[in-house]
Amino acid sequence: ARKIIIDTDPGQDDAAAIMLAFGSPDELEVLGITTVAGNVPLSLTSRNARIVCELCGRAETKVFAGADAPIARKLVTAEHVHGKTGLDGPDLDEPTMALQPGHAVDFIIETLRREPEGTVTLCTLGPLTNIGMVFQKAPDIAPRIRELVMMGGGFFEGGNITPAAEFNIYVDPEAADIVFRSGVPIVMMPLDVTHQLLTRKDRVQHMAEIGTAPAKAMVEMLEFFERFDIEKYGSDGGPLHDPTVVAYLLKPELFKGRECNVEIEVQSELTVGMTVVDWWHVTERKRNARVMRHVDADGFFNLLIERFARI
Ligand code: BDR
Ligand code: CA
Repeated sequence: ARKIIIDTDPGQDDAAAIMLAFGSPDELEVLGITTVAGNVPLSLTSRNARIVCELCGRAETKVFAGADAPIARKLVTAEHVHGKTGLDGPDLDEPTMALQPGHAVDFIIETLRREPEGTVTLCTLGPLTNIGMVFQKAPDIAPRIRELVMMGGGFFEGGNITPAAEFNIYVDPEAADIVFRSGVPIVMMPLDVTHQLLTRKDRVQHMAEIGTAPAKAMVEMLEFFERFDIEKYGSDGGPLHDPTVVAYLLKPELFKGRECNVEIEVQSELTVGMTVVDWWHVTERKRNARVMRHVDADGFFNLLIERFARI
């Protein structure tokens, strides 16, 4: 199985991504889950990550708390989308499993140094603060990483927290800038892809038919999560962002994209956190990311439902 570390700020859609990984033990080995401040503050994302582990019967998973604030800015959170706890919707028990001692950044560095070079994949579902700090603390570490697959950014689709910026990049643009300059092979799942993955009623209904406790909790999470987009935009469900990262590792053929140069805007007040994607290759700048643009939405939801049913 491919070894992964999931860096996350759960978040209902983060929870769906973690669940997808846990439902795919033949393909993916979760070495650890690292938490970051994002959708809600760190104490809650660390709580929520453990709740999801226990919900999936995976209390042995190592969960490490990471950065409680962006590298150079004040934290911006998204309770307006995810609710007060970040995982609003179902009635969830407080976690009983403990957080691991030590900082997420040290766990990531130690794991990358211990495992054979080029075997560990980083899956990032939140602001890139922890990973930015990994590169600051261990500038030589990029070649040890097999690949970094992230949910973040948006280009033709624009932004979701400002007109120009997607939330994960907006919260910590300095960290994102470090990551995109690091030389690590990047796969980027922007809003352009995730906005094609709406939690339509029929899809959620299929999930509900699984009938297990984790599937039921997930349905309740998604029903809470989608209300924001349904009310605000009148869309047919909410966009399921973060599971794209895990789905890509399981079935890359679901996605289509291009190698592009991506730069992060860190200065302009108006467009800070924008991912400037050279989709048409109008510059000579180095192609540092595989940027996805299209997804087979039905294939994606079939995969999700198939794997949720295994938990
Ligand atoms: C991203 O922001 C968070 O609210 C979601 O969990 C996702 O990672 C989408 O912009
Ligand atoms: Ca997230």
